[in-house]
Amino acid sequence: MKILVVGGAGYIGSHMCKFLAAHDHVPVVLDNLVCGHRQAVKWGPFFEGPMEDRGLLRRIFSEHEIACVMHFAAFCYVGESMTAPAKYYRNNVAATLTLLEAMVEAEIQGFIFSSSCATYGEPEKIPIPEDHPLNPINPYGRTKLMVEQILADFRRAYGLESVCLRYFNAAGADPDGELGEDHDPETHLIPLVLQTALGQRPHIDVFGDDYPTKDGTCIRDYIHIQDLAQAHLAALERLLDGKPGGVFNLGNGEGFSVRDVIEVARKATGAPIPEKVTPRRPGDPAVLVGSSEKARQELGWKPRFADLETIIETAWKWHRAHPTGYGD
Ligand code: UFG
Repeated sequence: MKILVVGGAGYIGSHMCKFLAAHDHVPVVLDNLVCGHRQAVKWGPFFEGPMEDRGLLRRIFSEHEIACVMHFAAFCYVGESMTAPAKYYRNNVAATLTLLEAMVEAEIQGFIFSSSCATYGEPEKIPIPEDHPLNPINPYGRTKLMVEQILADFRRAYGLESVCLRYFNAAGADPDGELGEDHDPETHLIPLVLQTALGQRPHIDVFGDDYPTKDGTCIRDYIHIQDLAQAHLAALERLLDGKPGGVFNLGNGEGFSVRDVIEVARKATGAPIPEKVTPRRPGDPAVLVGSSEKARQELGWKPRFADLETIIETAWKWHRAHPTGYGD
């Protein structure tokens, strides 16, 4: 099947394309290369351009018989979304709406959306189930929730079936070492810790050690990028079978503190990785851990790279071999 992967040159999208190709699908990539990397597009046709370009979308849909669309093209910095909300609403919501309208026009019935645990806001209970109240505390989380709501309306009105996958903290890299995480600027913990191990940063900032957690640092649920790809494939098969979509959390159900991550990275890299405690980063909840029981039950999903050591080792393999990322 041909699958349109919007944002297929980015961190998660590129891993998805490789995974789709390994499972006999053809990923057709649409990416404007604002965050993505041309070198990461290798497994199918590539269209460079913005997803709000209706003419380009019509061209893709007429040249390729697309069975389903996977959408990874979002800005994803919580902090930036607080200071530049227009950028986030314009891209993550308005441009996505254009993509969805073009899909309705082309009568494409399946959509898989990269949502986020940021839709929950401050958790009222841990692990967070899908029916937890949705009170996002930043524009990034609100854009993800808005698209989920648009998708529910599109299902009712136009029969566009969708699966929303609420990721916890995506991490790790292609076990083959061919693809990895390369953001500019980088804000995510694991790549920053590994850049410190490489000597590219003098220390890793620990954003607050006064949280109500075991060691005072924030706890997150890290989920390997291959396991995310596996869940997307299961969601795709569900839609292709004509089954209804839905909303699913994707996490390992186990939380690790910032200090746990640094400690595991010290073991994986053999580097000292100096740390420096700095003030809390605004908008960071103390603990985010998800229940993925629903994905396990209904999608038959089982993470294969669940332990933090493996997640960090695969990321390290990429960073060590690509100290400047894709170099573009
Ligand atoms: N952190 C540090 N020092 C750093 C960077 C991060 O201590 O230099 C801490 C953060 O405070 C947080 C943890 O490491 O407690 C992880 O931070 P990340 O920036 O790697 O990821 P987030 O937890 O902020 O991820 C959130 C949501 C995701 C969402 C993502 C978007 O949990 O759902 O933001 O970037 F997709």
